[in-house]
Amino acid sequence: MCGIVGYVGERAALPLLMEGLRRVEYRGYDSAGVAVAHEGRLAVHKRKGKVRELDAALPAAGLPGTTGIAHTRWATHGEPSDANAHPHTDAQGRIAVVHNGIIENAAELRARLAADGVAFRSETDTEVLAHLIAARPENSLLDAVRAALRQVKGAYGLAVIDAARPEAIVAARNGGPVVIGVGDEEMFVASDASALMGHAKTVAHLDDGEIAEVRADGFSVLTLEGTETAKATQALEGEAAGFDKGDYAHFMRKEIAEQPDAVRRTLMGRLDARFSTAHLGGIELAAREMLDIRRVKILGCGSAGYAGVLGAHLIETLARIPAHAEPASEFRYRNPVIEQDTLYVAVSQSGETFDTLAAIQEVKRKGGRVLGVVNTVGSTIARECGRGVYLHAGPEVAVVSTKTWTCTAVAFALLALQLGRVRDLSAAQGARLLAGLSALPDQIAGIVAREAELAPLTARLVRSEHAYFIGRAAGYAVAMEGALKLKEVSYLHAEAYAASELKHGPLALIAPETPTVVVLPDDELLAKNLSTIAEVRTRQGPVLAITHPGVKVDGVEAAFAVPRSEPELAPILMNVPLQLLAYQVAQGLGRDIDQPRNLAKSVTVE
Ligand code: AGP
Repeated sequence: MCGIVGYVGERAALPLLMEGLRRVEYRGYDSAGVAVAHEGRLAVHKRKGKVRELDAALPAAGLPGTTGIAHTRWATHGEPSDANAHPHTDAQGRIAVVHNGIIENAAELRARLAADGVAFRSETDTEVLAHLIAARPENSLLDAVRAALRQVKGAYGLAVIDAARPEAIVAARNGGPVVIGVGDEEMFVASDASALMGHAKTVAHLDDGEIAEVRADGFSVLTLEGTETAKATQALEGEAAGFDKGDYAHFMRKEIAEQPDAVRRTLMGRLDARFSTAHLGGIELAAREMLDIRRVKILGCGSAGYAGVLGAHLIETLARIPAHAEPASEFRYRNPVIEQDTLYVAVSQSGETFDTLAAIQEVKRKGGRVLGVVNTVGSTIARECGRGVYLHAGPEVAVVSTKTWTCTAVAFALLALQLGRVRDLSAAQGARLLAGLSALPDQIAGIVAREAELAPLTARLVRSEHAYFIGRAAGYAVAMEGALKLKEVSYLHAEAYAASELKHGPLALIAPETPTVVVLPDDELLAKNLSTIAEVRTRQGPVLAITHPGVKVDGVEAAFAVPRSEPELAPILMNVPLQLLAYQVAQGLGRDIDQPRNLAKSVTVE
């Protein structure tokens, strides 16, 4: 989704803004732009396409000025074009605005401004804001933006500069994340703290309905109604190195390789050998409260949702609590019943997914309690939940989730273990799982090191137009994630089915040119899965398998075996070769792996 970067200080703004734009590129976008204030004027440059195209269009000497804002746009209102790219300015070119979100009453405001003689130069809702602010009579930019925003309905995270008053950036939030970064005699604004890594030392997050005046020497925050708000700052966590591909061709591949360390961090300090349990302090549930949980409902979107499907399976298996995962994007539309003895768990790597946030708010509005399973520290979802589990996976830059899926699954294994151990899971079972969890990082490293063995599976998929992924029980969660990964990065049509459902319809699709990838652990369902494979083979469907060493399957075209583990943890390992497979197929097809077409890293609009 769109990204915002702003700088005010003593250094030249342009290089810092461009660096920030490169950091938010991963969010997905289709155009980029920058505005810098200097000697009472704004220099504005915008381009459809990538940040490198904007870079190439900038004057070779750069732009003078120490205050500026910049943006990457993911089109909602108006096609991707130079004109629709942000920043948008007023008629005099004095006010520049960058905006994430959607102004719902833009058409009405536009008509009113047009009737007053304003000529619009773009199709965007954002341009309306620039004209509204410019028309305000207030003396300070802060008051002008505040007054303009009181006429606006909709969601926004935005930053505004005024060439006539370049000493401040005004930023505001209502639904779209805004972070203020504090440096030495310089300040930053961003939609995403990752843009500030290496520059800001501490950050403050705006809440909905707040507006900030950000100057080189500090910032102040008000509500839109004008009440001053005290804002605590927190240390900016994370390493700038996470945003560097190093020797890897793509962030996706780098992040797959980072999984052993990421999992170690998810586990760190959370394995309690003394009581053969896990300890997730952040969930803030006393043993008594855990015992009172009658149901667990997991809410997340896309990959986060599929990790939740596996999480539900783990919780039901280990803690014997009925557990179910549901797409957060659908949840609020069916007027869900919220129960006091249900534990709701929201999953999001970015912590900014609008649909997941809306689901959390629906639960809270009806009196339910929600835990977050989140990667991004201080993100909106983490703050909205107030308690939960941080993954500590490190920044994930590729649009597709890999290491955060794995770490989410590990976090659910920890939660299931902790809930299980206050119930019927024995100490011996707990100790067995602790050993299994501790072994995961090295096992994942071993799988990644054997990437080349996937070549026969890759070769088959590269020459296919469609692929099916099947699995049973927890294996179905892996099949769904494997299919999503393949379709996201390779653009092949990939569909997941529960293996048991195949003969209830999808079997009609099986054909000699369409491979089926089978998640085939050596567990109590092996015989059932082998029968399903036989059904596929009878219809001449090629079969590729992710399995365990020693599993013999007739007619499998190619297979990859993951090391044996505790059975409950096998899905976590089986997903890793599917990540590598998607990556290899996308590479073979020459796709834009880190920023697949049409996709955004954090989906902050409905
Ligand atoms: C993952 O590869 C996808 N890009 C997507 O499904 C993602 O998982 C989903 O949009 C949820 O994102 P979140 O984890 O940031 O909430």
